[in-house]
Amino acid sequence: MDNGNQRIVPIHINKEDFREIGYRLIDTISDFYDTINEVPVTSNESPSQIQSFLGNDSLPERGTSATELFTKTTDLLLNHSLFNGHPKFFGYITSSPTQIGALSDLLAAVVNPNVGANILSPMATAIEKQTVKWLAEFIGVSPSYGGLLVSGGNMANLTAFLAARTAKAPKNLKTEGLAMGVRNMVFYCSKATHTWIEKAAVLFGHGTNAIRWIPTMANNKMNTTILKETIKEDLKNGHTPFLVIGNAGDVSTGVVDNLTEIAAICKQNNLWFHIDGAYGLPAAVIPKYKNIFDGIQDADSIAIDPHKWLYAPLEAGCTLVKNPQHLIDTYSSHPVYYNFDNSAEEPTLNYYEYGLQNSRGFRALKVWMALQQAGRNGYETMINEDIDLSILLYEEAKKHTELEAVTQNLSITTLRYIPLNYVKQLGEDESFLNKLNENLLNELQQGGEVFLSNAVVGDKYCLRACVVNFRTSTKDIHEVVEIIVQKGRKVFEKIKNLNA
Ligand SMILES: Cc1ncc(COP(=O)(O)O)c(C=O)c1O
Repeated sequence: MDNGNQRIVPIHINKEDFREIGYRLIDTISDFYDTINEVPVTSNESPSQIQSFLGNDSLPERGTSATELFTKTTDLLLNHSLFNGHPKFFGYITSSPTQIGALSDLLAAVVNPNVGANILSPMATAIEKQTVKWLAEFIGVSPSYGGLLVSGGNMANLTAFLAARTAKAPKNLKTEGLAMGVRNMVFYCSKATHTWIEKAAVLFGHGTNAIRWIPTMANNKMNTTILKETIKEDLKNGHTPFLVIGNAGDVSTGVVDNLTEIAAICKQNNLWFHIDGAYGLPAAVIPKYKNIFDGIQDADSIAIDPHKWLYAPLEAGCTLVKNPQHLIDTYSSHPVYYNFDNSAEEPTLNYYEYGLQNSRGFRALKVWMALQQAGRNGYETMINEDIDLSILLYEEAKKHTELEAVTQNLSITTLRYIPLNYVKQLGEDESFLNKLNENLLNELQQGGEVFLSNAVVGDKYCLRACVVNFRTSTKDIHEVVEIIVQKGRKVFEKIKNLNA
């Protein structure tokens, strides 16, 4: 409806209602943050229970007031979710989200800049550029690295993978396509590498046989002697190696590869050196851990995820490239319907030319704000404390007669429950303890007191805690040890006869 001056539309919220809903929402959220340690980590309801709370209505024909919708929806989400902001959430690698990130997402949505083109997002583009530069400074590489914010670790790695391929392809990949030479292009990573590499191989036409899975050594780092031999063998057989991936905090146990050695091998063989630091690289901000990451300054590209150890709410990943021209070479195109390069005086930064997305949201804002709120110092303290808490868990497990501490790297600890006086029979493998710990993990995840995930270390099925959680305290860690042991005993009682 149009009264001449203004359309009356069903999606508008008038100013009074907007303020009322907004204030109420912020009050609810403030209370939620305040009591998050008192609620279960997860409501642990089955999909059908969740469905029953949600209902199964068809697409609504008529509208509902925003006030009513927010009342209903805050109830759904705050009472029927898993909270990775809970101080006892240590699963996978999802951080406790910052409050400033939540508020920044709101502000970003209000301005709604399309950060694909500078002309559509003048301030947002400048903020993203500064965020990228600060992330490079944060991890200690040259601030001349360029890049962009993406949705997360997968996208950060995939974005770099394609840049590497374009840079190292034997022919002009952009015009010749996959038919020319790509067939034999192969790439190298340790067997601890995250599954994004399989997605890259499948989606970008190489096939998973093009992945050279390099074995790890006893310390879980890539075996660089085998890396060198495999490259040599591939060259002998007419393949075209183009990329080596080093892990800076692998997804399972947080191990950082020997990046200096990998860098040297890449240099000798003219290969692109990519580092997957999606999880671990923020620890490079801590002076005493910096040397673990020696070699990052030689990386052609780097993936780092603010939505992991910088505590940004989902989603925020970042690709950094030593020479950002490689991103433009890979992703840029100039359709006639874009009038984006409109400044004769200075080059225009249009982020659609840097990656896969065209229209892009303002992910950088929440990262930029948090970096300023905490500062380098604040982050150094939080990340260091996360590592200390992970070490505490490891030490407590080591001391406990019913726990085995298995690994501890960065802020990831793996451990397992072993019943008191448990003696493995001669010739018995790990299968009983593996089954016990798998069942224990399921019980723990469903119990809602703590959320852990799993890692397989050698042939051991382990419980795995990744502390990327500024809300966790030492008390939480001590309580978690007790919870694991109590539950472990119960699970053992349940399944011990199966071993007979
Ligand atoms: C080392 C590493 N790389 C990549 C990823 C994928 O990140 P995302 O889930 O944000 O896509 C993860 C996820 O945990 C990871 O640990």
